[in-house]
Amino acid sequence: MGKEKIILTGDRPTGRLHIGHYVGSLKRRVELQNSGLYDKTFIFIADAQALTDNIDNPEKVRQNVIEVALDYMAVGLDPSKSTIFIQSQIPELCELTFYYMDLVTVSRLQRNPTVKTEIQMRNFETSIPVGFFTYPISQAADITAFKATTVPVGEDQEPMIEQTREIVRRFNHIYGDTLVEPEILLPDNAACLRLPGTDGKAKMSKSLGNCIYLSDTADEVEKKVKSMYTDPTHLKVSDPGKLEGNTVFTYLDAFCKPEHFGRYLPDYPNLDELKAHYTRGGLGDMKVKKFLAAIMQEELTPIRERRKEFEKDIPAIYEMLRKGCETARTTAAATLDEVRKAMKINYFDDTELIAEQAQRFGQR
Ligand code: TRP
Repeated sequence: MGKEKIILTGDRPTGRLHIGHYVGSLKRRVELQNSGLYDKTFIFIADAQALTDNIDNPEKVRQNVIEVALDYMAVGLDPSKSTIFIQSQIPELCELTFYYMDLVTVSRLQRNPTVKTEIQMRNFETSIPVGFFTYPISQAADITAFKATTVPVGEDQEPMIEQTREIVRRFNHIYGDTLVEPEILLPDNAACLRLPGTDGKAKMSKSLGNCIYLSDTADEVEKKVKSMYTDPTHLKVSDPGKLEGNTVFTYLDAFCKPEHFGRYLPDYPNLDELKAHYTRGGLGDMKVKKFLAAIMQEELTPIRERRKEFEKDIPAIYEMLRKGCETARTTAAATLDEVRKAMKINYFDDTELIAEQAQRFGQR
């Protein structure tokens, strides 16, 4: 115990997962799951967190729980290797959150950069739901309940992990060594850190309509790639093109492997040569887009096909989740026992306590 290497991460079920999620975290998780380097992997659907800013839209969250579960299975998360579960079914997480709330100040939460931008994005400035405001604390409960050592997430989650580490240090300092300080694991490829939308906007987001979903059909993927944002000043094929902010090249940085050239674009030995030609002029957008589309199809076709297979037996997916919740609950309950003990609120399983108190009162 204590030395185990444990992975934990999750996603809010507010939509189907897209290729930003895929390169930013999902792909890595599957590799980690299969690496044999970790003792346990926990992957969960953060429905309770999704409700913190969708409180009037429970149906949306409910529908997307199964979508996300299907996306998980489709990319290769494997319930025989990873515990896949639903956050709201683990009430222990609420209890941990309640205790951790005493370890965090309001001003510390107000300074959390992710919470700050999310408050702005949602126009919550004048009326922030308390549950939303405190979700970093509940996220600390998610992570610590499973004694996670490694949290693979996107860059935007960095403040959450930092907040968790502070809570762990504070808890252990006051109550004795109980919780494990997690480490963040970011994508190692810069293009994967924050994949832009197909329109070139900084982030893929459902509301901007600039996502390529893992469950998109081959036609949808083709169309989306062909209409991607490139360099608006690259009008004629002979014009020199810019790479910065050119979404097609950012996606190539994220997805292209050397062997793709042999398969789909044998005129070029590698990505550097392709970029050099584009910058020089004489290489049209459509040629590059066709290449990217071929790569995307190669990556997404097996995912799409596996998803179709899993869609044929939806009850089996719910059963997988139910079992995952059971396993997760056992783990979380064990941590909660330790937390209660450390916090001295374990009155009824501490036999010495009752004897001690009896003696104390007897002595008076
Ligand atoms: N906040 C994460 C997101 O928006 C989801 C999440 C909730 C999470 N709890 C977590 C991620 C714990 C990692 C660990 O995507």
